[in-house]
Amino acid sequence: MRQIWITKAGAPEVLKVKEAPDPYPRGGELRIRVEASGINFADILGRMGLYPDLPPIPVVVGYEVGGRIDAVGPGVDSGWVGRDVFAMTRFGGYADVVCVPEKQVFVRPEGMSAAQGAAIPVNYFTAWQLVVVMGGLKAGETMLVHSAGGGVGIAATQIAKNIGATVIGTASVAKHAELRQLGVDHLIDYRTEDFEARTREIMSGRGVELILDAVGGESFKKGYRLLSPTGRLGMFGISSAATGKERSIGGMLRTLASTPWFQFTPLALLNANKGVFGVNLGHLWGEVDRIRGWGEALLGRWKNGVIQPRIARTFRFDDAAAAHHYIQDRKNVGKVLLVP
Ligand SMILES: NC(=O)c1ccc[n+]([C@@H]2O[C@H](COP(=O)([O-])OP(=O)(O)OC[C@H]3O[C@@H](n4cnc5c(N)ncnc54)[C@H](OP(=O)(O)O)[C@@H]3O)[C@@H](O)[C@H]2O)c1
Repeated sequence: MRQIWITKAGAPEVLKVKEAPDPYPRGGELRIRVEASGINFADILGRMGLYPDLPPIPVVVGYEVGGRIDAVGPGVDSGWVGRDVFAMTRFGGYADVVCVPEKQVFVRPEGMSAAQGAAIPVNYFTAWQLVVVMGGLKAGETMLVHSAGGGVGIAATQIAKNIGATVIGTASVAKHAELRQLGVDHLIDYRTEDFEARTREIMSGRGVELILDAVGGESFKKGYRLLSPTGRLGMFGISSAATGKERSIGGMLRTLASTPWFQFTPLALLNANKGVFGVNLGHLWGEVDRIRGWGEALLGRWKNGVIQPRIARTFRFDDAAAAHHYIQDRKNVGKVLLVP
């Protein structure tokens, strides 16, 4: 098999393709011939040496794949062989063959490509947890989503529009026209406009009911201020810590220093009627059955066209470095995938 390794912490060029013997599925596992692997921002933070959950480098990252089952381990129904699937992988997804526990695997419905399947787990499960499970978004409410052009942003927008909410998104200006077509009602260019002031203007002074923020630092502070009474701030990342393409301790410290450590106190929350919550899908491996339920709900919405993974670009394994550059240059509208 071929795998893409993070050979050391650094710029995208540290990603290297290496060959290894094919793995055999162990008890309870299925083996997948991978046709597409999803890239996530966590992989980029990992490559930069900024991701605390990363196993020791050298390492193969990757949280999700789409492909076809070609073997099963002891105790698994052989009827799986030949089925088209997508799956969650706990690292190791940047490979053309992976073995994963059966309960992390979903059958792809007819008409769903391997690429679309690989674009579902991280983006859509995270968005579902943020918008539906913890954010409790209702028809008539307004959601502000940062990095609206990213995989999570587009997934969250599709879910929120289906609920009947209004969506305000922040994104680089080159993405605005496309995002408008994808359903974002109001767009903010966060590089030239202050998103807090602009959101207040859009909302005629009133705040918003739900904010999805993976930028972190100062952005959490502004978001908390922007919540209407009963509003909820969902925090799920700190991409502002990635200031360049290699690890910058300065960037990390600036993000940490501007984080609102003292704003979300119990009394402040109680008196303001505001809620703050955190999401980290990578810390829910003990809750796979719960996530399967979200997957089933999402697959139902795929069948009736509510959710449609948007593929920004695919890159060959040998061009993995270019794929990471593409995301860090903020060019993607939707999911970026690796294909063997
Ligand atoms: N907690 C969880 O379980 C979880 C799960 C999935 C993702 N996340 C987090 O959610 C965020 C978005 O993930 P994603 O997969 O949707 O993103 P993505 O598809 O990789 O898109 C990345 C986009 O983020 C924006 N961005 C904001 N700050 C950036 C920075 N410092 N460097 C480069 N791009 C930056 C850029 O768009 P604009 O310039 O248009 O804003 C960029 O195009 C990330 O922070 C990720 O770590 C968390």
